[in-house]
Amino acid sequence: MKCYLDHNATTPLAAPVREAMLACMEGLPGNPSSTHKFGRARRALVDRAREQVAQLVGVQPAQVIFTSGGTESNNLALHAVTAGETPGRLAVSTIEHPSVLEKAQQLEAAGWRVDWLAVDAQCQVTAQALEAGIRPGTRLVSVMMANNETGALQDIAAIAERARAAGAIMHTDAVQAVGKLPVEFAATGAQLMSLSAHKIYGPQGVGALICDKALELTPMQYGGGQERGMRAGTENVAAIVGFGAAAELAVQRLAEDSARMRALREALERGLARFPQVTVFAQQAPRLPNTVQLAVAGIDGETLLMQLDRAGIAVSSGSACSSGKDEPSHVLLAMGIDAEVARGAIRVSLGRETTQQDIDALLDRIGQQVQWIQKAGQAAGW
Ligand SMILES: Cc1ncc(COP(=O)(O)O)c(C=O)c1O
Repeated sequence: MKCYLDHNATTPLAAPVREAMLACMEGLPGNPSSTHKFGRARRALVDRAREQVAQLVGVQPAQVIFTSGGTESNNLALHAVTAGETPGRLAVSTIEHPSVLEKAQQLEAAGWRVDWLAVDAQCQVTAQALEAGIRPGTRLVSVMMANNETGALQDIAAIAERARAAGAIMHTDAVQAVGKLPVEFAATGAQLMSLSAHKIYGPQGVGALICDKALELTPMQYGGGQERGMRAGTENVAAIVGFGAAAELAVQRLAEDSARMRALREALERGLARFPQVTVFAQQAPRLPNTVQLAVAGIDGETLLMQLDRAGIAVSSGSACSSGKDEPSHVLLAMGIDAEVARGAIRVSLGRETTQQDIDALLDRIGQQVQWIQKAGQAAGW
């Protein structure tokens, strides 16, 4: 049985994306920087993809810097506004993806002061944290639009307004939000925004940093001046073409995809509500339509994940990037969830091809686990 419920980790490549990439790879050679006909044809492919990605978030093509993915976009965002500057203050939420968190920690070690913005039990950055953490003198604020583990959304427009009033640049990691929610760069108020192709049915290893045109940014890598000097290196044309195709598809399918996922997610949560042993995290928060992070009392997340894997159901424990580490999710700990409870967490993330049968299969297996735990508990006299 194929039951893939780990779309926040990565999505399958959409058929039109694969076709566009194959056509590109099988096409004539050429470096987009070459002035001959072959080069110009490759440049045209990159330009077309840049337009498609720009349309996804409502910006001009010149505002798109192609990168190797969300991780590089996040690193570049933080680097671009801090490199070569006298260290000052940054405000970063405690629930960011490691590509923001660890870059911020590295800046902290280099003398920057980081105001870590706390979240409440519903995974929302608190008003007090914003009040105390974003102040005149703050240079950069980085808060993600949608959390990859709980799916909780932040009010980026309100945070950006605060950042602007303080004279700070606003960066948001929108990797998990695009393709699931309408995202208009200008409406977010952010000046920098990270995207990744493989979360929207595009290829792995390509993403973008969207930039306000007025920003002066310092690149991380130097060389042939590609991406207007912001990201040197010969472009990965096939991946960029795939990203463009995925972006176009995401625009076309957004309303249908998010409504379908939301209906299935609600069916899943109705089913889970039958089991008092199950906790759904950040359930009261505005959330992505496809994400449920849950724990079953009495079983740790890794064990539950393995049990589901044996039944052909793929989910993740904590975030995919940190699974394998024996530590509870930093996001759940930041929400004040007890470490033992957090160790029980698994993340279920639905996608375009998820069906009601997938939801039923998952509920069935979770039901079996709950029964098994109950029986074991009775036998042990708990
Ligand atoms: C919120 C968020 N930001 C950034 C990334 C990193 O993106 P990439 O895998 O393209 O490097 C991820 C991937 O899991 C993510 O979920």
